[in-house]
Amino acid sequence: MLLSGKNAVVFGVANKRSLAWAISKAFADQGAKLLLTYQGDRLKENVLELAGTLPGTLTFPCDVTDDAQLAAAFDHAKQNWGGCDIVAHCVAYANREDLSGDFVKTSRDGYRVAQEVSSYSLTAMCRAALPLLEARGGGSVITLTYMGSERVVPNYNVMGVAKAALEASVRYLAVDLGPKNIRVNAISAGPVKTLSAAGISGFSSLLEVYEQKVPLRRNIEAAEVGDTAVFLASPLSRGITGEVIHVDSGYHVLGV
Ligand SMILES: NC(=O)c1ccc[n+]([C@@H]2O[C@H](COP(=O)([O-])OP(=O)(O)OC[C@H]3O[C@@H](n4cnc5c(N)ncnc54)[C@H](O)[C@@H]3O)[C@@H](O)[C@H]2O)c1
Repeated sequence: MLLSGKNAVVFGVANKRSLAWAISKAFADQGAKLLLTYQGDRLKENVLELAGTLPGTLTFPCDVTDDAQLAAAFDHAKQNWGGCDIVAHCVAYANREDLSGDFVKTSRDGYRVAQEVSSYSLTAMCRAALPLLEARGGGSVITLTYMGSERVVPNYNVMGVAKAALEASVRYLAVDLGPKNIRVNAISAGPVKTLSAAGISGFSSLLEVYEQKVPLRRNIEAAEVGDTAVFLASPLSRGITGEVIHVDSGYHVLGV
């Protein structure tokens, strides 16, 4: 049990396909207690039903663009646990019209929305979580990114730019929080069919290309992201911070 006695707050469960759900199950399998936050009433029923399958799991609504809601979510964790050891940030959003066609057409507001939800929220979340992580003598913060931050992936567009900012934030946060024994890392996952992924134009053909080209000749499974999150949350990764680990069947090493 790599995470026994640990408390984890997970942001971003929408349904059973969510990477946040794969991470939640992997954390629970390793003995962690969970607080699952969900974006709002639209997702409440789904998330409460999933949480019910992991005994003792807490739930709380939280829109990550609202500092008051972030504070309330961590306050809920404090009331129940006193502190927390693990924060999983599995949240992203861009307007649908900005996930197809030419990047150059991205509107000012579309750019702002993608950055606010998908990138800035990690910094706001770390700030809100800080007292709870410090109360436990440190901890691990994990976020999810995609290779569209490093190289151009058709239609990923504004989200690629947001993920680049997210990965840079991981490095700055790692430096700020390292002296407090808080590690901050990202998992760069290969494509997985989720609700968010369905919003990216041509996503299914991306899965086909990966299968043919990646070193492992298969797409990743959400559970593989969950297992890497367990590693990053556990003492096994105690010397690692500011890192972006690719869980993508090796796609990122290819030149052509
Ligand atoms: N699916 C993939 O192929 C893939 C690959 C690499 C990285 N990722 C990343 O994984 C993370 C999780 O996405 P997913 O693919 O599991 O899809 P998903 O749709 O299941 O999860 C996205 C989550 O973000 C939440 N969210 C959006 N705006 C929010 C807000 N304002 N406040 C609170 N929550 C909000 C949604 O409610 C949802 O739960 C994202 O950061 C995504 O970019 C996904």
